[in-house]
Amino acid sequence: MPILEDIGAGRSGRTTTCTAGGGACRLVVTRAAFARALESARAEGRSVGLVPTMGALHEGHASLIGRAAAQCDLAAVTVFVNPLQFDRAADLAAYPRSLDADVAAAAGAGATVVFAPSAAEMFGPGGLPGTTVHVTGLADRLEGASRPGHFDGVATIVTKLLALAGRCRAYFGEKDFQQLAVVRRLVADLSLPVQVIGCPTVRAVDGLALSSRNALLTADERSVAPLLHAALCSAARAAGAGDRDPTVLAAMVADALTAEPRFRLDRVDAVDAATLGPPEPDPAPGSELRILAAAFLGRARLIDNLGVPL
Ligand code: PAF
Repeated sequence: MPILEDIGAGRSGRTTTCTAGGGACRLVVTRAAFARALESARAEGRSVGLVPTMGALHEGHASLIGRAAAQCDLAAVTVFVNPLQFDRAADLAAYPRSLDADVAAAAGAGATVVFAPSAAEMFGPGGLPGTTVHVTGLADRLEGASRPGHFDGVATIVTKLLALAGRCRAYFGEKDFQQLAVVRRLVADLSLPVQVIGCPTVRAVDGLALSSRNALLTADERSVAPLLHAALCSAARAAGAGDRDPTVLAAMVADALTAEPRFRLDRVDAVDAATLGPPEPDPAPGSELRILAAAFLGRARLIDNLGVPL
């Protein structure tokens, strides 16, 4: 069991140490303490790995944290349920929150700093920020078309977190494939001193991509949830057998999901993995098609994607 020892006072200045799995981890809740912790590590010549999350940590996050801890001298995790990226109030309200367990999980996976600010701490006394980071060309298509404003919310908070963190490697999962593309683009466009590292999706044994939203599924919904990955795999097999038409492949996934009445299909897209646009008719060697799917299952909106070499 993790040991949580509060060594500070009051939410605004709280610093907590946690020991789990042999590792000691500090919980900081102010922007100043977070920036200071990472800055002083760098001042000692230590490299910093950052894993931004919205909490409800699972094995997928643990693999990102483990990778950050293996590749960097200090692994830091941020836990902030970002209101800017939710397009439905009910979705924000239902998002699972479990800070104590998250700190223990982060420590167990190798993190030594967890930054978990309140919304007031994150945004300051003025409330929500007046500045929005919009990644033109990437933010409004695909998932962005289904969830208007979502990627602006992600890009704005990620920019803020990276600005606070300073020079680091930042780890993001490929499950949120478009998010990864948005983050890579904003880091390049804004010349942030950050190396973005995309990491493979971690799956349950039945293929379901691990996600904090899986906690919203009933046992019955959980039993059909792997169909999302299975549908993507069938399309990938068809592509491997020579059927590379993106419209046909997307329709295959859509048909498989609509055949299961508990799913409510949101969108399926088959795009060039590098541009997230339509694949070239004559793709360059080494290019990849990404099939991305999103579907509602009960209270959860599940997303997943798979790459198919072209
Ligand atoms: O992937 C997530 O958990 C969130 O979108 C992120 C990157 C932490 C920004 O809030």
